[in-house]
Amino acid sequence: MKRVSYGIALGIVLLAGLLASAQTPAGGGQQAPPPMTNLQVWPKDTSRAVVLQFMNAFDDSLGVQCNYCHVEQGGRLDFASDEKREKKVARQMILLRDSINVVLPAIVGKPAGAGPTSVNGQPGAPVRVLCSSCHRGLPIPRSLADVVTDAAASGGAAGLAKYKELRTQYYGGQQYDFTENALLGIAQRAITAKNPDDALAYLQTNLEYYPKSARTYLAMAQARSAKGDKQAAIKDLEKALELDPNNAQVKGQLQQLRGQ
Ligand code: HEC
Ligand code: HEC
Repeated sequence: MKRVSYGIALGIVLLAGLLASAQTPAGGGQQAPPPMTNLQVWPKDTSRAVVLQFMNAFDDSLGVQCNYCHVEQGGRLDFASDEKREKKVARQMILLRDSINVVLPAIVGKPAGAGPTSVNGQPGAPVRVLCSSCHRGLPIPRSLADVVTDAAASGGAAGLAKYKELRTQYYGGQQYDFTENALLGIAQRAITAKNPDDALAYLQTNLEYYPKSARTYLAMAQARSAKGDKQAAIKDLEKALELDPNNAQVKGQLQQLRGQ
C-alpha cells in the first residue's frame, strides 16, 4: 500500500515535470522560448523540436556552432535575425540539397519511394544527399590538395606547413584525406607546375608517414628527373623496386634511365 501511494506520488511529480518541460522545450530556460517567427524555407508551423534537430545536424555537418549562422545580440543568439550572410547562404543550401534529391532518382534510375536495398532485381531507393555529403564537417569543403596548393603560392614550405597543421587538427576525421595518396597528388601538381623542389619536400614528408610507399619513391624519381638529377632518380627507382618488386612502371623507368 505504501509502495503504491509512493508510486502515485512519483507519477504526479513526473507528470508535473513533463508539463513543465513541455512549456520550456528548448532546455534549461525558465521561460518558454518565443515562437519561431522567421522560417522561410521550412513550413512556418514546423515544430521547434524538429527545427532544433535540423540545426544540430547543421552544426555536425559543417563542424560549426550555432553562432556560425546566427548573430549574437546582447550576449544571446538572435535566431530569427537574418543578419549573417551564412544564415542566408544556408537557406539556399537547403533548397540546393532538396533540389538535388528531387532530380537524383531519375538520374540514377532508382525510384524515390523504394526501400533502401534492391529487391527481386528492382533497384533500391537512391542515396539521399545530405549537407554532410558535401560538407564533411567543414563550412567550406575544399579538398586538401586545393588548400595546400593555395598555401604553397607563397612558397612550398608554407604548403607543407599547412598540410602538417591540418593533419594535426583533423587526422582521423572525415574532413580531409590523409592517406598515402594525398601528398602524392599534391606533389604531382607541384611537378606539373614545374616546382620539383616543392614536390620533393612533399614526398619526403609522405615517406615520414608512409615509409614503405613505393609510389612515393617513383614520384621522387620523377621530380629528380625533372631537375636533371639522373643518378638520384635511379636510386629512388631502385628503392621503389625493392619495396614493390613487381611494379612494371618502376622497372620500365629504371631500364629507360639506365639505358640513357
Ligand atoms: C549552417 C547555418 C546554421 C547553423 C549552424 C544553425 N542554424 Fe539555425 N537556422 C538556420 C537557417 C537557414 C534558419 C532558417 C530556416 C528557414 O528559413 O526555414 C534557421 C532557423 C533557426 C531557428 C528558427 C528561428 C525563427 O524564429 O525563425 C532557430 C530557433 C534556430 N535556427 C536555432 C539554431 C540553433 C539552436 C543552432 C545550433 C544548435 C542553429 N540554429 C544552428 C541556419 C543555421
Ligand atoms: C552539393 C554539395 C553541397 C550540399 C548538399 C550542401 N552544400 Fe553548403 N556548400 C557547398 C560548397 C562547395 C560550399 C562552398 C562554396 C564556396 O565558398 O566556394 C558551400 C558553402 C556553404 C555555406 C557558406 C560557408 C561560408 O562560410 O562561406 C554554408 C553556410 C553552407 N554551405 C551550408 C549548407 C547546409 C546547411 C547544407 C544542407 C542543408 C549544405 N550547405 C549543403 C556544397 C554543398
